[in-house]
Amino acid sequence: MGKITWKGGALLAPVPCVMVSCGTLEKANIMTVAWTGITCTKPAKTYISVRKSRYSYDIIKNSREFVINLTNMDLARSADFCGVRSGREVDKFKACSLTPEKGSVVSAPLIAQSPVSIECRVSDIIELGSHDMFLADIVAVNVQEELVRGDGKLALEKAELIAYSHGDYYTLGKRLGKFGFSVQKKKKKR
Ligand SMILES: Cc1cc2nc3c(=O)[nH]c(=O)nc-3n(C[C@H](O)[C@H](O)[C@H](O)COP(=O)(O)O)c2cc1C
Repeated sequence: MGKITWKGGALLAPVPCVMVSCGTLEKANIMTVAWTGITCTKPAKTYISVRKSRYSYDIIKNSREFVINLTNMDLARSADFCGVRSGREVDKFKACSLTPEKGSVVSAPLIAQSPVSIECRVSDIIELGSHDMFLADIVAVNVQEELVRGDGKLALEKAELIAYSHGDYYTLGKRLGKFGFSVQKKKKKR
């Protein structure tokens, strides 16, 4: 089983495909972002990498706030649309029939239809080349009530989240095991 070697490039998959909302409730915008992730647990930190040419870039740079909205099957079409149309030309909340909702900490709006909306405050802007990285503190996490079980735990499997891989959108598919399953002792049958 040989491998063919290519020169270095931005190939990592699957990656998230989130809708980043920014601006204010009155003048809100959404852009789709795949270059995102968690960088630290405590303090809880995330990042988004954004090209300077995006309409959202200056909005986020000036307000130093944004919201990461996780996407599910129902939002797949809107996520794609918000990644191919600019807020310079179209009101993407209106065009996708999405509802801007007040955040609990930041002024940037949440997307009501998203199962999980993560409020972020920019701590550093790192110029990397094609993209600038907005490193941010996660200051609040908003979860749709239907995803929280009676015992207060998050039932994220119910959210039908989607991922992005090499230009295509996917559902997550079958559950294979939980954290640590590879070393877990099997329960003895009685
Ligand atoms: C699946 C997907 C992922 C994307 N990921 C990024 C990203 O990580 N960073 C970025 O700058 N643009 C990304 N884009 C492109 C922007 O979302 C797109 O240029 C969008 O129109 C920008 O909107 P705005 O001009 O309203 O800010 C992505 C587009 C798609 C469809």
